[in-house]
Amino acid sequence: MLLQWAAVQLTDHLAMPHEEIASLLEIPPNPELGDAAFPCFTLARTLKRAPAAIAEELAAAVTAGGGAIRAEAKGAYLNLFFQRETWAPKLLSPVLLPDFGYSQQGAGTRVIMDMSSPNIAKPFGVGHLRSTMIGNALANIYRSQGYDVVTVNHIGDWGTQFGKLMEAYARWGDEEKLKAAPIRESLQLYVRFHEEAEQDPSLEENARRWFWKLENGDAEAKRLWQYFVSFSMEEFDRVYARLGVEFDYTLGESFYNDKMGAVVDLLKADRLLVESDGAQVVRLEEEGLPPCLILKSDGTTIYPTRDLATALYRRNEMGGDLLLYVVGGEQRLHFQQVFAVLSRMDEESAAQCRHVAFGLMKFEGRKMSTRRGQVIFLDEVLDEAVSKAAAIIAEKNPDLESAQDTAEAVGIGAIVFGDLKHNRMLEVDFSLDEALRFEGETGPYVQYTAARAFKLLERGGLSLAEAESRSLSGAVDTASLQHYLAGAAAWESLKQLASYPEAVLEALRQNEPAVVARFLLDASKRFNRFYHQERIITDNKEETDAKLLLAAAVAGVLRSGLSLLGLRTPTQI
Ligand code: ARG
Repeated sequence: MLLQWAAVQLTDHLAMPHEEIASLLEIPPNPELGDAAFPCFTLARTLKRAPAAIAEELAAAVTAGGGAIRAEAKGAYLNLFFQRETWAPKLLSPVLLPDFGYSQQGAGTRVIMDMSSPNIAKPFGVGHLRSTMIGNALANIYRSQGYDVVTVNHIGDWGTQFGKLMEAYARWGDEEKLKAAPIRESLQLYVRFHEEAEQDPSLEENARRWFWKLENGDAEAKRLWQYFVSFSMEEFDRVYARLGVEFDYTLGESFYNDKMGAVVDLLKADRLLVESDGAQVVRLEEEGLPPCLILKSDGTTIYPTRDLATALYRRNEMGGDLLLYVVGGEQRLHFQQVFAVLSRMDEESAAQCRHVAFGLMKFEGRKMSTRRGQVIFLDEVLDEAVSKAAAIIAEKNPDLESAQDTAEAVGIGAIVFGDLKHNRMLEVDFSLDEALRFEGETGPYVQYTAARAFKLLERGGLSLAEAESRSLSGAVDTASLQHYLAGAAAWESLKQLASYPEAVLEALRQNEPAVVARFLLDASKRFNRFYHQERIITDNKEETDAKLLLAAAVAGVLRSGLSLLGLRTPTQI
């Protein structure tokens, strides 16, 4: 917000369009250099003069121009200082509004978000966890800007692994064990299959036969398949409920079984299919990519064929304008190929596809591999996080009511935030103890800061709703704000809070929830500095009121940002 205002102030003095000024303005790394800085290099080029000389001249003109802004030249930069008394109330009022940070800029645009998408009868992997959390945050962020978001869980409920599972189940399966711990048990079967198949090739042969039976509608195969799908889904749903994630649709890969013939026909009609070693492929030399396999030599379709059918369905039947795929970076080539084939088929729809990739995550240095059975089970990680959170909370606040529910919000929140604070492409080595530190760059730190702000409001007798309605009706007392929120700590906090809408838009532009996470850490740090430097609840009613309004602004923005990321905000911790 401040940069926008700075741009307005500068427009009178510069022969440059307002938008260009706004885009050039920066926030100086150090607040002593001002609240905003304008680099004069671009102007120097057009005016053919030294940037420092331009900065000097502008500084004098802007300071003389009034507007409660002082300007100083520093090298090639024009540094702007807002007069805090004048600007603090202007910054605070909009922050208190209930729709602060929201917009309607995406109205009328439908976004289909492919997220989570675990594979049936295999454990929920860390990659699926990241996809779930990043996808959920992005869905919230797009919704906050008015987009019509449709989330889809594209579960892997079809493929040769079912043949393996059925063969293993037929040989060594035990219904009782499977019912008691479905995913663990089917994983055991899966692992054993791979071990024994090394000695005995007939296993692979039988597995292929099972899958063939499944694809051809054999009743027994179908019954087993449904059985595996339903017990896996039950287990996944428990995880989703704990993470607070819901899907608009769960449409597995099998949903597209009867939709792939049409894709193959379209490709044929467009003369895109060519034969290669008995298989049918689309050549992608022009794009510099290896050919995309569409039909195997035995005539069966594969993963890319399915994704082509999926994309066309999302575009044509679901009305998607923008198709996002929140899937690990190791599938980069797959999506490049699929999008390239789509653009050959239909320029427009391919232009609307994006692979929102992310890096690997390890848990305390351990990697996951489904095949070898070295897996970390997600529910165990969640349980551990919650019990550790419970222990910390019991120590900090032994009398807390609803301590268990708070521990759930904090423990799960620690995991979600611990992931989302990293740029998604980075590899993350996740440490639970690290993610749970209340005094670190963590979710619990932000939640705790929000709870601190809510506690102040409670002690001071101001509710968030009241602060909002005062802002709506213009009843925020400007005089006392001018007086009591003009200190450096309050100002630094306010300034940053006011830039929340920009942070959300930037997160959306980059498809990067980390922008919001880092914003929240910064907001928490700034408010805590204010909290430690100044008494908030004092004997002076006006002073208390002004400071509580800042606490309300912090509480509201932190709660809003946490909810975008998928975390709850307990009002007491
Ligand atoms: N089930 C796949 C896997 O675990 C991810 C699916 C991603 N979505 C897609 N439309 N291909 O690798």
